[in-house]
Amino acid sequence: MAGILNLHNFSRVLIYSLFLHIWTVFAQNTTNNSTAPTIRWSACPSGIPPGVDCGSIQVPLSYKSGNSTVSDGNQTVSLLLTRLNSTGNGTQNPLFFNPGGPGVPASTLVAAGQFVPNFGVSDAVRRVYTIIGLDPRGVGYSTPIKCDPNIYNQRIRTFVSDNASYQALVSYNRRFGQSCANLTGPLLNNLDTVHVAKDHELVRRALNATKFNLLGLSYGTLLGQQYLSLFPNTVGRMALDGPVDHSQSEPSTFSFSGDTNNTCALNGNNTRQVFNDLLLKADASPIPAPSCNGTCQPNVTGEDIRYNVQSFLQFVDLSYASNWTGLGVALQDASNGNATALSTPLALTQNATSIEGSPFSYLAIGCQDWLHQARSATDLELRLQAVQPFAPLTAGASQTYYYQSRCLGWPAPLTNGQVLLNTTITQRAPTVLIAHSVYDPSCSSVWADGVRQQLPNSVSITRNGSGHLSHFLLGDTRAVLDNFLANGTLPPDGSIYQT
Ligand SMILES: *[C@@H]1O[C@H](CO)[C@@H](O)[C@H](O)[C@H]1NC(C)=O
Ligand SMILES: *[C@@H]1O[C@H](CO)[C@@H](O)[C@H](O)[C@H]1NC(C)=O
Ligand SMILES: *[C@@H]1O[C@H](CO)[C@@H](O)[C@H](O)[C@H]1NC(C)=O
Ligand SMILES: *[C@@H]1O[C@H](CO)[C@@H](O)[C@H](O)[C@H]1NC(C)=O
Ligand SMILES: *[C@@H]1O[C@H](CO)[C@@H](O)[C@H](O)[C@H]1NC(C)=O
Ligand SMILES: *[C@@H]1O[C@H](CO)[C@@H](O)[C@H](O)[C@H]1NC(C)=O
Ligand SMILES: *[C@@H]1O[C@H](CO)[C@@H](O)[C@H](O)[C@H]1NC(C)=O
Ligand SMILES: *[C@@H]1O[C@H](CO)[C@@H](O)[C@H](O)[C@H]1NC(C)=O
Ligand SMILES: *[C@@H]1O[C@H](CO)[C@@H](O)[C@H](O)[C@H]1NC(C)=O
Ligand SMILES: *[C@@H]1O[C@H](CO)[C@@H](O)[C@H](O)[C@H]1NC(C)=O
Ligand SMILES: *[C@@H]1O[C@H](CO)[C@@H](O)[C@H](O)[C@H]1NC(C)=O
Ligand SMILES: *[C@@H]1O[C@H](CO)[C@@H](O)[C@H](O)[C@H]1NC(C)=O
Repeated sequence: MAGILNLHNFSRVLIYSLFLHIWTVFAQNTTNNSTAPTIRWSACPSGIPPGVDCGSIQVPLSYKSGNSTVSDGNQTVSLLLTRLNSTGNGTQNPLFFNPGGPGVPASTLVAAGQFVPNFGVSDAVRRVYTIIGLDPRGVGYSTPIKCDPNIYNQRIRTFVSDNASYQALVSYNRRFGQSCANLTGPLLNNLDTVHVAKDHELVRRALNATKFNLLGLSYGTLLGQQYLSLFPNTVGRMALDGPVDHSQSEPSTFSFSGDTNNTCALNGNNTRQVFNDLLLKADASPIPAPSCNGTCQPNVTGEDIRYNVQSFLQFVDLSYASNWTGLGVALQDASNGNATALSTPLALTQNATSIEGSPFSYLAIGCQDWLHQARSATDLELRLQAVQPFAPLTAGASQTYYYQSRCLGWPAPLTNGQVLLNTTITQRAPTVLIAHSVYDPSCSSVWADGVRQQLPNSVSITRNGSGHLSHFLLGDTRAVLDNFLANGTLPPDGSIYQT
C-alpha cells in the first residue's frame, strides 16, 4: 500500500530521458517446455527510459487453485517486464523489484533507477543482480484495466451519513465497476495478488532463475508474502520495506493500517488550526481549484482534502514526490482560496495509467484483495468513529477506508481477503528482512509486527523516523536492505537506524 505515488517532478525526468528504444526481437526458449510460457524480448514502449531491455510473456488469465501454476481455461494475459543488466561479471541472478501501489509500474521505475538514485539500488546490488521490473497484470504496460473515465470523474461521498448516501455509494461503485468489467473483460475478476505471485513464479522459471529474489516496497511486500506462502522452497533473498499485514479483520485492518496521527507535518504555527478551518470551509462549500484546467477536479471538498493529503504525508522531503513541504504550501494556498494542489486528478483516458500508477488498477486490485463487507451506513460510521481519537484530522481517510467503502457493490468477487499466513509453510523459506519506520502514515508498526509473526524466519529493522518506506531515502536503512540483497548479510534483529 503506498497510496498512489505522486511523482510530479519525476515525470519531468522521464520526459527528459524519453526516447524510443529499439531492441532486436528474438524469442528465448529457455525451458524447452512447450507448456511453460517464454519471454519475447522486443522494443520497449516509448514511455520507458533507455538502458533496459523489454520482454513480454503470456501467462494464464486464471490459475488452478493452491500453489498450482497450471492454467484454468485457455485465456491468457500479457505481462511486460524490463531487464536492467547487471554491471558485474559473475552469475547474474534476477532480482525482482516491486515498488508498490498497487498500480505503480515496476517496468518504468527499474529503468528510471539508473538515472534517479532514489529509485535505484546500490552499486553492489547492481553488480550481483540483473534487475527485473515486472508490471503486474492490469498495471503499467501489462494488459491494462480499462474503465469509463467519465464515471470515475463523477464524485461520490465515501464518508456516508445515512442509508441513502450508503446506497448511492454502492450503486455508484457498481456502475463504475461495471464499466471496468465491460471494457476490461474477465481480467477484472483475476487480479488478486495470488495471481500476481504466480505470474512472478512463471517469469522466474522463464528466466531460468533458481531462486526468486525480491525487493518489495509497500504493496510489493504483500506480493513477497504471497509468493513465500505459495513457493517457500524457491525463495531467495527477500527484502521487504513498509510491510503490509494481510491477516486482520476488516475493522482492525482499518484501525492499524497507518500511524493515523500522521498530521504532525501540520504542527507548529497553528497549522492544526489552519487545517481544521480549511476542512470546515471546504465541507461548507467546495474550494475552487482554478489551475486544474481540466486535469483535476475544479473544486475540492473536505473529503477530497482528507484523502488527498495522504499522498503528501508518505514522504517527508523526497524531492521527486509530494512531501511535507509541499503540504504546507498546499494548505496555505487552499486557505487563501486556491485548492489546486489538493484537488483529485481526473482520469482522462480509459487506460489511465501513468508513472504514478493508475487509479483504476489501484481500486480493482484492492477490491479483490481486501475485505469490504459493510452492510449499512452504520457499519462504516462506527468504523470512522473508532479512529477519531487517534486520527482527529484526517478522520480515517486512507487507502484502507477507500477500499472498504469504494469496493462495496464492486462487480468482481473478493478472491483473496485477509488471512493469516500458514507458518508451517512460511518457516520453510529462508530469512526475510523486514524494514519499517516508526511513524509510517501508510503501514503502521502494528502491521510490521503482524508480518513478522507470520514469517518466523524474519529479521526486523526499524527506521526511527516518519514517512512511508525507507529504501527511497538513501539512508542507513536502505544500505542495510541493499547489503542483505547483495551479500546476504543480516543485521542484528531489532536494529534501529536514524536514516
Ligand atoms: C538454466 O539453468 C541451468 C542451471 O542453473 C543450466 O544448467 C542451464 O544451462 C540453463 N539453461 C539455459 C537455457 O540458460
Ligand atoms: C521452443 O521449444 C519448443 C518445445 O521444445 C519447440 O517446439 C519450439 O520450436 C521452440 N521454439 C523456439 C523458438 O526455439
Ligand atoms: C512444464 O511446465 C509445466 C508448467 O510450467 C510444469 O507443470 C511441467 O512439470 C513442466 N514439464 C517439464 C517436463 O518440465
Ligand atoms: C543485456 O544483456 C544481454 C545478454 O545477456 C544483451 O543481449 C543485451 O544487449 C543487454 N542489454 C543492454 C540494454 O545492455
Ligand atoms: C478455449 O476453451 C473454450 C472452452 O473452454 C473452447 O470453446 C475454445 O475453443 C478454446 N479456444 C482455444 C483457442 O483453444
Ligand atoms: C570480475 O570483476 C571483478 C571486479 O568486480 C574483477 O576483479 C575480476 O577480475 C573480474 N573477472 C573476470 C573473469 O573478468
Ligand atoms: C456494460 O455492458 C452492459 C451490457 O452490454 C450494458 O447493459 C451496460 O450499460 C454497460 N455498463 C456500463 C457502465 O458501461
Ligand atoms: C505445492 O503444495 C504441495 C502441498 O500442498 C507441495 O507438496 C508442493 O511441493 C508445492 N509445490 C511447490 C512448487 O511449492
Ligand atoms: C504562519 O502561517 C502564516 C500563514 O498561515 C504565515 O504568514 C506565516 O509566515 C507563518 N509563520 C511561520 C513562522 O512559519
Ligand atoms: C489549459 O488547457 C488548454 C487546453 O487544454 C491549453 O490550451 C491552455 O494553455 C491551458 N492553460 C494553462 C494555464 O495551462
Ligand atoms: C464542483 O465541481 C463539480 C464537478 O466535479 C461541479 O459539478 C460543481 O458544480 C462544482 N461546485 C461548485 C460549488 O463549484
Ligand atoms: C497526536 O499528535 C499530537 C500532535 O503531535 C499529539 O499532541 C497527540 O498526543 C497525538 N495523539 C496520539 C494518540 O498519539
